[in-house]
Amino acid sequence: MASEHVIEEKKQGQALVTNNIKGNTKKLFIESYGCQMNMNDSEIVAAILETQGYNTTNKLEEADLVLVNTCSIREKAEQTIRKRLQKYNRVKIDENPKMKIGVLGCMAERLKTKFLDEEKMVDLVVGPDAYKDLPNLLKEVEEGRDAINVILSKEETYGDISPVRLNSNGVSAFVTITRGCDNMCTFCVVPFTRGRERSRDPKSIIDEAKDLWNKGFKEITLLGQNADSYLWYGGGLKKEFKKASEIAQQTAIDFAKLLEMVATALPKMRIRFATSNPYDMHEDVLHAIANHDNICKYIHLPVQSGSTRILKKMNRQHTREEYIELIDKIRTIIPDCAISHDIITGFCTETEEDHQQTLSLMDYVKYDFGFMFAYSERPGTLAAKKMPDDVPLEVKKRRLTEIINKQMAHSKFRLEQFIGKTVEVLIDGVSKKNKEEWKGRNSQNAVVVFPKTGSEKLGDLVHVKINRATAATLIGEKI
Ligand code: SAH
Ligand code: F3S
Repeated sequence: MASEHVIEEKKQGQALVTNNIKGNTKKLFIESYGCQMNMNDSEIVAAILETQGYNTTNKLEEADLVLVNTCSIREKAEQTIRKRLQKYNRVKIDENPKMKIGVLGCMAERLKTKFLDEEKMVDLVVGPDAYKDLPNLLKEVEEGRDAINVILSKEETYGDISPVRLNSNGVSAFVTITRGCDNMCTFCVVPFTRGRERSRDPKSIIDEAKDLWNKGFKEITLLGQNADSYLWYGGGLKKEFKKASEIAQQTAIDFAKLLEMVATALPKMRIRFATSNPYDMHEDVLHAIANHDNICKYIHLPVQSGSTRILKKMNRQHTREEYIELIDKIRTIIPDCAISHDIITGFCTETEEDHQQTLSLMDYVKYDFGFMFAYSERPGTLAAKKMPDDVPLEVKKRRLTEIINKQMAHSKFRLEQFIGKTVEVLIDGVSKKNKEEWKGRNSQNAVVVFPKTGSEKLGDLVHVKINRATAATLIGEKI
């Protein structure tokens, strides 16, 4: 789920704040790590806790309740969170003994009672499908007992909860459309921590998007671990679709239809989506993107490896050639589409030849952005059980450096293609480097910076002529 240019780990972990409901006296300090869906889940949790008398705060020492929404995707992510938990515990001991500490999200799901038994660093453990149980769990905690709910659900989509937008620029917001993942890539912990795949009622998706538009938002990102796999047939697990009635099957709404519905219902709202698994991305999605000006011309299409042999070991369900065919289709149907990737280096048995295949695939696609990682073995996955993690760390890191360097060259190449052109930019903030400049993104998700002229404001769509490009930013002037 892309949000920045060429990076290895996304910058994370800051207190999420905004709501200030009158009469709410308890203080919630909440931080979110990992993917965009975790961020959106934290907004759902804040909405649930708003009804329990909590407002958010960014002052750790004054919090009644500290929640950290966690990520298990790589070992490093878990280590970061353990350090945060130690910090919370120090503040609790030194400054605020009444403070309660809870873990949410993927680590809660993966480690379950271990947090309560072995580590004794938390009072509350809540998995990604159990947030509606928070009011009950908090009662337990307030009465001095530890509380845990890590039950994964077949139905929960939180479709009926209106998230409290946290750390929001008031312009862009996330809307979750599917939860869980059925793909079972052998390296990935997500199917274990987020459960089986289920889709959210399209009506509640459109209602939420309309509500955001009415509140002044100008861009939404439809989120799913595997957004293209969206399938609504009246509720229930994706893998039980074949058991549904004939009518339910015939009237089902897939991702292409959902995109069309959202784009038509909100013709001025910019629409993005993430993430696409190549196996689940079909041609009608590409036509939907091409046919609607308000659907951004940008696809995040993780490939993980350019070697068919490794893709097979990863259980990715497609070959290098099929991926290239999909890229060619995208280029034909949406000629100005930006494409980004996720790549893992040093997966089990990866040879120099496999690595060269990844590099040559990158040369073929010339991705606009990329997210690159060294393989990190995750307990419980098929790879951890059956495939030795046999590529030495130095080799993983060297290969990672090579793909990062290549991606930097490709990102530069792609950005330079915009020089001299005029692009449409949604203003989403003030440039960090210069208060006299706006920043925003074009349809292809490239960051654009330009001087303020005084006649535009946050949330406006403006035309900017691009004059030059730095490593990760386009610089231009409003016309
Ligand atoms: N469908 C998800 C992808 C899951 S995680 C999404 O919407 O983003 C994001 C990326 O993390 C994956 O595409 C993969 O490149 C990387 N990743 C997942 N498991 C990993 C592991 N065990 N080691 C290293 N990187 C991993
Ligand atoms: Fe993970 Fe593969 Fe699903 S990377 S989130 S199991 S598509």
